[in-house]
Amino acid sequence: MVKADLAILNIGQIASPKKAGPIRGKEMSSLETRHNMHIAIEGGKISYVGRENVEAREYIDGTGLVAIPGFVDSHTHIPFVGSRSKEFLMRLSGKSYMEIMKTGGGIRSTVKEVRKASASELVAESLRHLDRMLSLGVTTIEGKSGYGLDKENELKQLKVLKTLDSIHPVDLVPTFLGAHAVAEEYESSDSFLYSMAEMLDDVSEYTDTVDIFCENGVFSENQSRWYLKRAKEKGFKLKLHADELSASGGGRLAVELGALSADHLISADDGTLELLSNSNTVATILPGTSFFLNEAFAKGRELVDRGAIVALASDFNPGSCNIYDPFFIIFLAVSRCGLSVEEAIIAYTVNGAKALCLEDRKGRIEAGFDADLVLIKAGDYSEIVYNFSRNIVSGVIKSGKRVR
Ligand code: NIG
Ligand code: FE
Repeated sequence: MVKADLAILNIGQIASPKKAGPIRGKEMSSLETRHNMHIAIEGGKISYVGRENVEAREYIDGTGLVAIPGFVDSHTHIPFVGSRSKEFLMRLSGKSYMEIMKTGGGIRSTVKEVRKASASELVAESLRHLDRMLSLGVTTIEGKSGYGLDKENELKQLKVLKTLDSIHPVDLVPTFLGAHAVAEEYESSDSFLYSMAEMLDDVSEYTDTVDIFCENGVFSENQSRWYLKRAKEKGFKLKLHADELSASGGGRLAVELGALSADHLISADDGTLELLSNSNTVATILPGTSFFLNEAFAKGRELVDRGAIVALASDFNPGSCNIYDPFFIIFLAVSRCGLSVEEAIIAYTVNGAKALCLEDRKGRIEAGFDADLVLIKAGDYSEIVYNFSRNIVSGVIKSGKRVR
């Protein structure tokens, strides 16, 4: 007899990555299914998966449900405030994301809003997003600063992430993205980047990860190299917005510097895809952004075929991707980037966890892992894709507690 705090009994199907992460290339199809099993949860962790009787304080009937690991969204821009719906309409009438950015819109317009907002306004707005994301099964979320662009406001965003982590069931993982755009009070991008580098010691109290928007017209490959090397010397892990809108050298640079992840990769050339695929840098694709901006999609199929560690995330932000629904992102990854359903689930769970250095704790349904689970009303996990426009989530367990 297994004893537990919470038991989910007779689960129709458990679908979970078969092996420990990170999972690369061909092995990304290795999603394992087990049928009519129980999951026991104790102290916020999965303590048992199997068919033995479980005696628990609380039970959930898993009949007719599929259990998958909670989604790990390893790339969002939470916290922010304000809408950029006007820009969305401008793009539909022909203006590009970069054109809007160069004329003072884009990231800088959210910076204005975030600078004006108090920490508690940022918290309140973010909580609304987190509630909805959690109810869709997203149990771990990375959030970035990058809408402050000065010390006071970058730290404000990082503190907000810390507060959110402490008051909301979702696990929040913070990243410093001071190098997101050049603040309007700076004439040169070099002097702005220098000011961000000067802040690294201050932000180290709140995060161990640094990101940069390495993009032609924002921060060049050389500028990014200079900045990220400084961050690395100080012990930070590195992430890059790489080859998003144009081939800008970010993917290559990520491999050169041993970055944790290179994100976007819509415009990455063949050589870059090959370098990434032979490295331990996670290649994170964000198809929601391609869809929202009406741009090309990253070559997910090629990355998997070449052997990369591919992760899938939302990029949820007010400007380039107002989407946080993992089911829709998975639908896009499968229908537009050529991933199989199995690969997409692995990319959004254990490989997303790898992109946050959490692969030993999150992204699998195994004894010892965090009890973060999604219960879906379906006969088989593959129905996730077909049902992308319905909410088929019937339950969410976060750190061993039922939150939906
Ligand atoms: O990932 N590219 C830079 N950052 C975001 C967009 C942020 C914004 O437009 O506010 C992205 O696409
Ligand atoms: Fe982003």
